[in-house]
Amino acid sequence: MLFQNQVVVITGAGRGIGAAAAKLFAQHGASVVVNDLDAKPAEAVVAEIESAEGAAVAVPGSVTEDGFPENLLDAAVDRFGKLNVLVNNAGFTWDGMLHKMTDEQWRAVLEIHTMAPFRMIRAAAKHLREPAKAELAAGEPFSENRCIINVSSTSGLHGNVGQANYATAKMGVIGLTKTVAKEWGRFGVRCNAVAFGFIDTRMTRAKEDGESIEVAEHEIAQGIPEAARGRAITGNPLGRSGTDEEAAGGIVIMASTLAGYVTGHTLEVTGGAGI
Ligand code: CAA
Repeated sequence: MLFQNQVVVITGAGRGIGAAAAKLFAQHGASVVVNDLDAKPAEAVVAEIESAEGAAVAVPGSVTEDGFPENLLDAAVDRFGKLNVLVNNAGFTWDGMLHKMTDEQWRAVLEIHTMAPFRMIRAAAKHLREPAKAELAAGEPFSENRCIINVSSTSGLHGNVGQANYATAKMGVIGLTKTVAKEWGRFGVRCNAVAFGFIDTRMTRAKEDGESIEVAEHEIAQGIPEAARGRAITGNPLGRSGTDEEAAGGIVIMASTLAGYVTGHTLEVTGGAGI
């Protein structure tokens, strides 16, 4: 029970890695706030957690909307009393070759993968930095595990053909992570990134399967064309894609006090890709 009496907020937790992380945190005793753009999958994750005697609440909405980060975290604290862990996981890809990429494509991907985490973390200052600052001023030890996990990607670390926007954003979030680690470390708040390789989610399935996400009135295809997919998926020492449970494991390890002296780090959960 690594997260007994702890409160975890995960964005984009209706499916895939976010949903698996929500369930894993709950198995380890956390009360979990499940955010997603879509209410239905978020509520399904909550129902699954509750049926296993866990505690969870769904707070659907877009993390890119003005004021939503504050509302999401206030809802978490209203329901469960505090915040321990924030996981900035929500995201989508809008791939295209750089020489054809539109400003809108670039902006949308930077907004969801860098602007939204920045705003979530700024909104979390009230719930993570402030109580820790008060404890420090009173000469008390920090009473809680307080930390932030930002989801990055192998594309951010190494670049990826067709992903100039996403690679830039996912490297940007590593700079954000290191800066928060340096600014909030004095208050005992840790901030780490987890960079995923090819985890089996709708982002990495065959584009031909037709998975898409609707953003700003665009139906954006998710996935990798079948022709390029095999090489991408197996091009790592483990020779396979990862499961969403394995991805969730990386998040949960870094959020737990087992990693209590780790901050500003990027954990690569990639099957060894890029070593
Ligand atoms: N390197 C350089 N140029 C290349 C290239 C390559 N490997 N492959 C194609 N090109 C060039 C072609 O020569 C052609 O050039 P011209 O315009 O001069 O003729 C051009 O690119 C072709 O452009 P198209 O738009 O027609 O190419 P497309 O139909 O293949 O679509 C794409 C491009 C949308 C990027 C598509 O290839 C794609 O979806 N690729 C997958 C991208 C990918 O790996 N996404 C990862 C998703 S998983 C994820 O993101 C999760 C995570 O964190 C890991």
